[in-house]
Amino acid sequence: MKKICILILWCLISGITHAQRANYDEAKVGQYTLPDALLTHDGNKVDNRKMWEKVRRPEIMKLLADVEYGTLPDVPVKTAWKVLEESDDAMGGKAVRRQVQFTFSNNGVNRTMLLLVYMPKGKKKCPVFVSPNFHGNQSTTEDLTVIKSQYSKYERGEQKSRWAYEKILNAGYAVATFHYFDLFYDEEKHIQEGIMPVFGINTDADFKPHTGKSISAWAWGCSRVLDYLLTLKNIDKKRCIVMGHSRLGKTALWAGAQDKRFAMVVSNNSGCCGAALSRRNFGETVPAITKNFPRWFCNTYFTYANRVNELPFDQHELLAMIAPRPLYVASAEEDRWADPRGEFLSLKEAGKVYALYGLETFADAQFPAVGEYVWHGNMGYHMRSGKHDVTDFDWEAYIRFANQKLY
Ligand code: GCU
Repeated sequence: MKKICILILWCLISGITHAQRANYDEAKVGQYTLPDALLTHDGNKVDNRKMWEKVRRPEIMKLLADVEYGTLPDVPVKTAWKVLEESDDAMGGKAVRRQVQFTFSNNGVNRTMLLLVYMPKGKKKCPVFVSPNFHGNQSTTEDLTVIKSQYSKYERGEQKSRWAYEKILNAGYAVATFHYFDLFYDEEKHIQEGIMPVFGINTDADFKPHTGKSISAWAWGCSRVLDYLLTLKNIDKKRCIVMGHSRLGKTALWAGAQDKRFAMVVSNNSGCCGAALSRRNFGETVPAITKNFPRWFCNTYFTYANRVNELPFDQHELLAMIAPRPLYVASAEEDRWADPRGEFLSLKEAGKVYALYGLETFADAQFPAVGEYVWHGNMGYHMRSGKHDVTDFDWEAYIRFANQKLY
């Protein structure tokens, strides 16, 4: 009992000191110089798209893969799809629902993932949001037919406020979701549950310095979902969007960077190591995130935890990987841990790459008031009121933005 009390006290104190240590004072953010997205390793200035696409973009992609998110081992993973359930009378007759089991196999090892898809009924070509969920497919809806995700402990409908299914379907969009734990169980010492064993990774010791971990695995999952969706006749192949919240917002950005089949990318409150600049000392920092979430990034990244200014990139260069495709970054006013201003400034800096495509950028944009939209060219930003979350306000913005930018 005494030991338990000490442990609880220790957790409380370390939680408090951790929160206190984070800087929330704009005056104490410090000076920083961002790496120039348009300067090649050889010191040449990039001033046209061809040079960007042929030389500089691949340089940055390699840095992000080698240093931050890592890459999954190059092994031949086979995927099989099995439709477990289907109905054309979902959501009060408005939607088609399909639940598909994915089996990933290699070298005699198999793992499964469960996908839930809702599609507006009767629409011939639907754009689609691909978006992993935190608490299991059944947590996103009260729909009794939705099968519980294998690793979820959550109740049906428990997180439905984050999933504006009615709105999405009414707007003519399909939505596809899966529990992120199916790919990589987001706790220490659970490597066996996710897909890593399919890649021959069974223990912590199997991770090489550049081997991808959870963010890599979740992003890989988004692309596998897309493989499947692209086989469906009624999915609009040119209008597939990847969207994610928080750690899954970091994931959506990395998925969109790697997989150009995603025509649009949405980062909802992705914060540190997502959209926010790492060199700004505000809210969560690289030393904090690498300490608290050692399973998210490749091992090389940890060597930069205490020398962030030496990182050969900053997060604006991740955003630039999406160019010229539509990109939406959203923050929340009370989500200071995710550094809303750092997310905005990052987008502004990424605009230099969008400009190579003749697109309007954020060059003259001011940090907006709460609830105001800043949309320029193919980039969008808002900071809604409230806390770290996904709300109808956010979904409405993503749908309107997609309607405008993808058509
Ligand atoms: C923590 C973490 C963030 C992350 C968030 C989430 O707050 O520090 O980096 O985005 O969890 O995923 O909810």
